[in-house]
Amino acid sequence: MRSHMSSKETVLITGASSGIGLELAKLFAADGSQLILAARSADKLQQLAEELNATHGTQSHVIPVDLAKPEGPGALMEQIDALGLAVDVLINNAGFGQYGHFANIPMQRQLEILDVNNRALVELTHRVLTGMLERRSGSILNLGSTASFQPGPNSAVYYATKAFVLSFSEGLWAETRKQGVCVSCLCPGPTRTGFGADSDMDQTPVFKYNSMRVEDVAKAGHRAVRKRKRLVIPGWVNWLLAFGTRLPHRRHMIWIMEQLQPPKKTS
Ligand SMILES: NC(=O)c1ccc[n+]([C@@H]2O[C@H](COP(=O)([O-])OP(=O)(O)OC[C@H]3O[C@@H](n4cnc5c(N)ncnc54)[C@H](OP(=O)(O)O)[C@@H]3O)[C@@H](O)[C@H]2O)c1
Repeated sequence: MRSHMSSKETVLITGASSGIGLELAKLFAADGSQLILAARSADKLQQLAEELNATHGTQSHVIPVDLAKPEGPGALMEQIDALGLAVDVLINNAGFGQYGHFANIPMQRQLEILDVNNRALVELTHRVLTGMLERRSGSILNLGSTASFQPGPNSAVYYATKAFVLSFSEGLWAETRKQGVCVSCLCPGPTRTGFGADSDMDQTPVFKYNSMRVEDVAKAGHRAVRKRKRLVIPGWVNWLLAFGTRLPHRRHMIWIMEQLQPPKKTS
């Protein structure tokens, strides 16, 4: 079903309340797109929607949702249907991680990382893809990470979720690329958002010595959608690190990651 309320492109961004998602919202609003902003923080989303509507004269809809809950993605899509909108661009950006020894991180948090980073992403993709294929048009941008390219001791679940995102995105890119749909994967390295403090990863050398401005990362994601790229790794250091993982023996790569992410001091 094509949007019957407006002929403008409709962009759904999860995790739009802060960081990379918020900056992506600004870029798509500047293009004149109609936005659907989703995350848990209703107040932050509402403030952003008002700002974007005032600055760009676009229409932004706010849908508060907890994507860690099994019913979250379905409830989000039901509200989008009720607005009479079809999603032209899906940005699966919501996500989080946790630094620390696997055994010391509460199981509930680990499962929520899987639910938000992978389960919700797959469900939202499936729910919007049918319509995109029918219209032979659409873009999906999934947030991977440089963590997608190798295992991450002391953040094992987070790294595994991001490996899943890259593998899933590239598989789907191949399945859909001749049917008018482009699935892109954006793989940033450390980026200066709330993510570092929330996940405690800002304590690691990997974060301290190489982090990018969130605006630059969002621009790379926006470009990935507009240029219909399969994979984008913002920043040449991140690009070298990601492709450098192919050179050493996998066991040596894991050792390098142990040095970059040593056991958490408090765990
Ligand atoms: N920053 C980095 O260094 C970095 C590097 C590589 C990849 N990434 C990836 O980039 C994406 C965005 O992260 P960021 O750096 O922009 O971090 P951020 O500023 O912490 O933003 C995370 C976003 O995800 C939303 N979110 C978290 N849990 C949610 C839930 N249960 N339901 C719905 N929304 C939820 C948050 O909104 P609410 O709290 O309002 O729900 C927030 O809008 C993530 O997928 C992350 O893994 C980040």
